[in-house]
Amino acid sequence: MIDVNGKVVMISGANRGIGLAIARSLYKAGYSLSLGSRNISSLENLIENSSDDRILNCHFDAMDKSTHTEWVTHTIDKFNKIDCLINNAGIVESVSVEDEEDNEDALDRMWTVNVKAPLSLTRLTLPYLKKSGSGRVVNVASLAGKAVYGSSVGYSMTKFAAVALSHATRHGGWDHGVRCTALCPGYVATDMTSEVESVSIDSMISPDDLAELVRTVISLSNTASIAELIVNCRPDIIA
Ligand SMILES: NC(=O)c1ccc[n+]([C@@H]2O[C@H](COP(=O)([O-])OP(=O)(O)OC[C@H]3O[C@@H](n4cnc5c(N)ncnc54)[C@H](OP(=O)(O)O)[C@@H]3O)[C@@H](O)[C@H]2O)c1
Repeated sequence: MIDVNGKVVMISGANRGIGLAIARSLYKAGYSLSLGSRNISSLENLIENSSDDRILNCHFDAMDKSTHTEWVTHTIDKFNKIDCLINNAGIVESVSVEDEEDNEDALDRMWTVNVKAPLSLTRLTLPYLKKSGSGRVVNVASLAGKAVYGSSVGYSMTKFAAVALSHATRHGGWDHGVRCTALCPGYVATDMTSEVESVSIDSMISPDDLAELVRTVISLSNTASIAELIVNCRPDIIA
């Protein structure tokens, strides 16, 4: 296990859902956090008894590349280091093979938020992660990045790509101690699944359980790399 004391973690989409659960868990474990959200005020007072020394709230909009650079710059200005990046922000929109209408815009939005922004943040933080000697990246992909359900294709394509990004990041940073994990959960009880009818909220994965897994994988030694983590709430196509 690595010593987490003083380690700095950036988390995108930290204002709600899985990102918020990860932020709360890592703060409790002793990490310093740089939290990114497109609405910076939505990050205020989310973590109980938090100290300004260990938390920085920043504007991050996946669709606006200038905010990627600014977020990394603000993080370095405050903490002078980055040890871990959690690419969590994501969106889902309906794009099926069978669609007859043109939904290129929905596809482009998902590519930008779910794939291009995580790649951009990985590139910007990689020099600092390498310098850390035990840099960590977690990409919150999805079970939809490992298996395809019916003819729904848009979200799944982007999450398969997020898994590919994870493996490329692991290879690219390996010699400098960077380890990367693709987190691939099935249904998680968040706003994103509030309209799902096929699985009840009570049967879905808890964001707190995922946060506990993230806390564990990023604290493992460089010699215990977890490349993919598949998490199910029911007997699925995979695992
Ligand atoms: N819920 C599931 O069943 C499930 C399963 C597998 C994987 N995932 C993945 O888990 C991640 C987190 O999802 P969640 O379930 O926690 O969903 P959520 O509750 O809907 O939260 C999504 C988060 O992403 C942020 N976000 C969306 N678009 C953004 C943008 N353009 N710039 C910056 N942030 C943006 C949201 O910010 P705003 O508050 O500003 O909208 C929010 O913080 C996503 O990558 C999702 O694909 C979810």
